Amino acid sequence: MTQTLNRTAVTSAPISEVIANRWSPRSFDVSVDVPEENITAFLEAARWSASASNTQPWRFIVGRRGTATHSTIVEHLMGFNKAWAGSASVLVVNLAETVSPEGAEQRWAHYDLGQAAATLALQAHKDGFHVHQMGGIEVDPLRRSFNVDDRFDIVSVTAVGVLASPAALADEVLREREVAPRVRKPLAELLLADD
Ligand SMILES: Cc1cc2nc3c(=O)[nH]c(=O)nc-3n(C[C@H](O)[C@H](O)[C@H](O)COP(=O)(O)O)c2cc1C
Repeated sequence: MTQTLNRTAVTSAPISEVIANRWSPRSFDVSVDVPEENITAFLEAARWSASASNTQPWRFIVGRRGTATHSTIVEHLMGFNKAWAGSASVLVVNLAETVSPEGAEQRWAHYDLGQAAATLALQAHKDGFHVHQMGGIEVDPLRRSFNVDDRFDIVSVTAVGVLASPAALADEVLREREVAPRVRKPLAELLLADD
């Protein structure tokens, strides 16, 4: 379906269009897949993120709709995430390597993973797709299902797909959220010092 919503951020100075236009929908088109070259592109974008001492502690479990991996990820989403995220073409589990193979603590692993996830999202949006990250996930069942080593924290899941109309969402609350105004704290509130 065609996107008719204008979800562009209202900013106090011009910012990159891809940042201003990125938003997190819950209505994805179940009939359209993200092409393989675009999946590779957003994973490449994540790969080229900055990280502490270039440790690159991000890892991903990628499930394409119709595969057992995708179904397993959906199964371990929490609450209402399960109601909408299964329609996304691709689900990516985001993991942080908090301990190196040599046993060293990697203090910035979560920070670095966040940057990689943000970079992935921006690349996908730039390429015409939409992304919705989720923290509402069942970490322990995901760990067991994918046999994830304790050195890794399972942090979040990213849904990537093609935007559909809000009307495609079965739940009225979700439909309302899809069109609710996008809000942010004022910039001044974020600046603890700004001399
Ligand atoms: C780490 C993280 C966890 C999130 N968890 C959820 C979630 O479990 N379910 C959900 O629907 N949205 C989730 N979101 C999406 C946020 O609610 C959303 O990004 C925020 O409201 C701002 O909206 P915008 O991305 O459209 O600007 C999460 C986002 C992030 C970055």
